[in-house]
Amino acid sequence: MKTRLISIAVLSCLSAASQAATLKISCGAVGQELELCKQAVAQWSKKTGNEVQVVATPNDSNERLALYQQILGSGSDKIDVFQIDVVWPGILASHLADLKPLAAGVEKQHFAGIVSNNTVAGRLVAMPWFTDAGLLYYRKDLLAKYRLPVPDTWEALAAAARKIQDAERAAGNDKMWGYVWQGRAYEGLSCDALEWVVSYKGGTILDAATGKPTINNPQAVKALTTAAGWVGTITPKAVLNYGEEEARGVFQAGNAVFMRNWPYAWSLTQKTDSAVKDKVGVVALPKGGADGRRAATLGGWQLAVSRYTKNQKLAADLVLYLTSSEVQKQRALNGSYNPTISALYRDPDILKANPFFGELYNTFTSAVGRPSSVSRNRYNQVSNQFWNATHDVLAGKSDAASALARLDATLKRIAPPK
Ligand code: GLC
Repeated sequence: MKTRLISIAVLSCLSAASQAATLKISCGAVGQELELCKQAVAQWSKKTGNEVQVVATPNDSNERLALYQQILGSGSDKIDVFQIDVVWPGILASHLADLKPLAAGVEKQHFAGIVSNNTVAGRLVAMPWFTDAGLLYYRKDLLAKYRLPVPDTWEALAAAARKIQDAERAAGNDKMWGYVWQGRAYEGLSCDALEWVVSYKGGTILDAATGKPTINNPQAVKALTTAAGWVGTITPKAVLNYGEEEARGVFQAGNAVFMRNWPYAWSLTQKTDSAVKDKVGVVALPKGGADGRRAATLGGWQLAVSRYTKNQKLAADLVLYLTSSEVQKQRALNGSYNPTISALYRDPDILKANPFFGELYNTFTSAVGRPSSVSRNRYNQVSNQFWNATHDVLAGKSDAASALARLDATLKRIAPPK
């Protein structure tokens, strides 16, 4: 009997060993992303006995997309699990496995809008991991010092930024700037610029129902002209090459009054080594003039399983663990990554660590989507044209009216109505 038990034990060890696989997951590396991805992956490895290699990817979303398209386009099984942007399901769907049968209903715990965004032709091609919306970070101490309210409109923001920047420079901080954001010619600029345009009620680039370009309108011209006026006055010219991390670097060093960024920046600005710890407030972005509205672009990342993986079930198990309530809570506490599971917005620990998750709940749930559903696999081309046109205006190479007229013509060619 004893020998039999031992041999069963040995056999099951052997079979566990032979089943253990090595998976590869691609994770983002903006802020604390890579570190948090590695931590959670290690927890899953420990639980299941499988090895996982974490592959870091470029920070700019569009560069990451180009890398993924290269890998997936060749049918390679080099990466089993991909971290994909909220605007990519329509671009990558044909390369991704349907997770619906494997998720067995847990997707219902997540925000329905994101699940529907990730469902292409009835297939759930990615599980929601974290959601994002553009936010306004501001220096509480500086607004208090100059007795200024939190600005409600872009016009009020520009005036406050100017006043504080000038006064702080006169007082000796010659590095101080009013407002930093994402101005590089990349996907992040499309997010910022969509916020400006929507805030002035200039539409969402393409009509959501017909896909026809709507961007060539006076409100959009006003939005881009306003933003171009910030460059070199309240915003350093170097913003034309800033992504999220460059903007955060300036703000976190104490050299900007306002910053536009995603929620991940909160946790980093509150670390002990941050020059602005306890001096930061977070609110919804301003309206475009008194008649405008507040607008935050919807961002966020999902986890998808490659159709070409040799370990589909195991890869899906890793995805379900990483997107679980347990891991989303850790990521919210340690990195201010917004959960995609609505119940976590009632979790007292999470709300304590990130007060704005509760205060700005509506900003997150009513964020404006980029026109990715309507342009499907053409989204990246549409966005690329939009960020280039915007960059030309910001850099003073073109006025907004001509840039948007040209953009309209180009979009008509690449995104014909359905
Ligand atoms: C953030 C958002 C993502 C967006 C990117 C642009 O990572 O979550 O959706 O595309 O920023 O830089």
